[in-house]
Amino acid sequence: MSRFFPQAQTIKLNADVELSIFQCQDTVFQLSSIAPGACFELHQHPESQLGMILSGCLEININGSKTMLETLQEFYIAGANIPHGAVNHSPEMAVGLDVKRITNSLAPGNIDEIIFKLSPNKDESTGFPCRSAVGYWCETVITQIPAGGKIPNHQSAIEQIGLVLNGQLIMTVGEEQQQLQDGEIYYAPTNVVHGGYNPTKEEATLIKVLILPYSELAA
Ligand SMILES: [Fe+2]
Repeated sequence: MSRFFPQAQTIKLNADVELSIFQCQDTVFQLSSIAPGACFELHQHPESQLGMILSGCLEININGSKTMLETLQEFYIAGANIPHGAVNHSPEMAVGLDVKRITNSLAPGNIDEIIFKLSPNKDESTGFPCRSAVGYWCETVITQIPAGGKIPNHQSAIEQIGLVLNGQLIMTVGEEQQQLQDGEIYYAPTNVVHGGYNPTKEEATLIKVLILPYSELAA
């Protein structure tokens, strides 16, 4: 089993909600497909959760506060043991991305700011334009990797998980290499060299979630 290219475990929660779950050491990265008109019931867990809508339209409910989340424009964070759920009011299937992780007490469990809007930025590793936002224990970066575009080999003190959407990337992490399709991920732990390129003639979207080290939470 690959350490850096985890395979999804698929779980059908009920007739309307299906989860693809990737385990990345201490972090769970999950894609949820929610059928039209269906509800991902309110629930809570000890992990803090980052969530984003990848396609379709979802209304999220965090501790009673309801928001229509804009697709690929913003993410939410539900703190530890904070009830959260989602409803798909639209006639199309909705797909959400969730990242769950136990955070220490410096990442507040009862937080005021729950929505984080992405804003234009420059991706440090590629130099390509991106959109990004930082929220408590994580940063999300969305970059379009052009046809033939390269992600130079680099390493970082911040662990990251990358999801490919709408395209393909060949990624190398440590000694492993894999061609990632739409909906597949790589996991680059702290200080593991990683890089890649887009081998196709089409642009690919890369969504990176950076897990900020606890030391940064103290700042
Ligand atoms: Fe959850």
